[in-house]
Amino acid sequence: MIRVKDLTKKYGNIHALKGVTIEINDKVTSIIGRNGAGKTTFIRILSTQLKPTSGSVNINGMDIDRDINKIRKIILSIPQEAQPVGIMTPLEHLELYLIARGYSLSEARREGKYALEELEMEEFKDVPCDELSGGMKRKVFVAMALASKVDIVFLDEPTTGLDPLSRMEVWNSIRKLDSNIILTTHYMEEASELSNKVIVFNEGQVVSQGTVRDLLAPFKNKVRVEKTNGEEYDVKIGKLSIKYVPNDRAQEYLSKGYDVKNITLDDLFISRGVTLES
Ligand SMILES: Nc1ncnc2c1ncn2[C@@H]1O[C@H](COP(=O)(O)OP(=O)(O)O)[C@@H](O)[C@H]1O
Ligand SMILES: [Mg+2]
Repeated sequence: MIRVKDLTKKYGNIHALKGVTIEINDKVTSIIGRNGAGKTTFIRILSTQLKPTSGSVNINGMDIDRDINKIRKIILSIPQEAQPVGIMTPLEHLELYLIARGYSLSEARREGKYALEELEMEEFKDVPCDELSGGMKRKVFVAMALASKVDIVFLDEPTTGLDPLSRMEVWNSIRKLDSNIILTTHYMEEASELSNKVIVFNEGQVVSQGTVRDLLAPFKNKVRVEKTNGEEYDVKIGKLSIKYVPNDRAQEYLSKGYDVKNITLDDLFISRGVTLES
């Protein structure tokens, strides 16, 4: 589906992407990484909104330089900061968007209504968007993606800033999309809820990829223990000594004065380059 080769992007002397080479073939792929990792830059280049400094991207056999207009017909990108227009209703957004994509007004109305029904937004379809919850506002864009029937949908941090219930609602709506999906997130939970394949970005590079289960396998049944100036560690960050130990040794480390933490996404980064004892 998508082949990315040696992709780099520099903003002045900031190197946002440093030679990313990757293939994306799964139904839903999550790009995960902390703020500044290069996720948005990557998505914006793949969705033809931004030119790379060097490297190539091929989408369904088309090149992002040569075939930009053809690619734009088969993709849809929802930026992180996208907000619906407050005085317009969800149905009006859908109609306008579908007309812009070449539908007649009657088709746009029919397909727009259908998409809103599919996402269980029927009762809100005529409510001005500034009266909708954060989750419903996001779902207006997911409905556009559903109605557009494009091959590939890019979602940049679709649930950042939403409360837990709204996030689940948005997840459920994303699951209804037939398109292939590439989304960015900094929540491991989100990546694991929505996607099988996860690509981990750090400082403009792909540092690992695989299924969620693959990525978390080294941490199975483990906890992170940490102590300032501790004597036992796998990783040292400043003065903090960090070690990954089996669950059943947590008590032992507590009694040595270590704090015990559950494994989170951060551990993928913290433990980078470290071989964990099994
Ligand atoms: N328009 C820009 N001008 C200058 N630097 C930028 C611009 N956009 C992003 N950057 C920088 O590029 C790096 C990657 O940013 P971004 O792709 O937004 O990361 P992420 O989406 O993972 O948070 C960061 O250091 C960021 O400050
Ligand atoms: Mg971003």
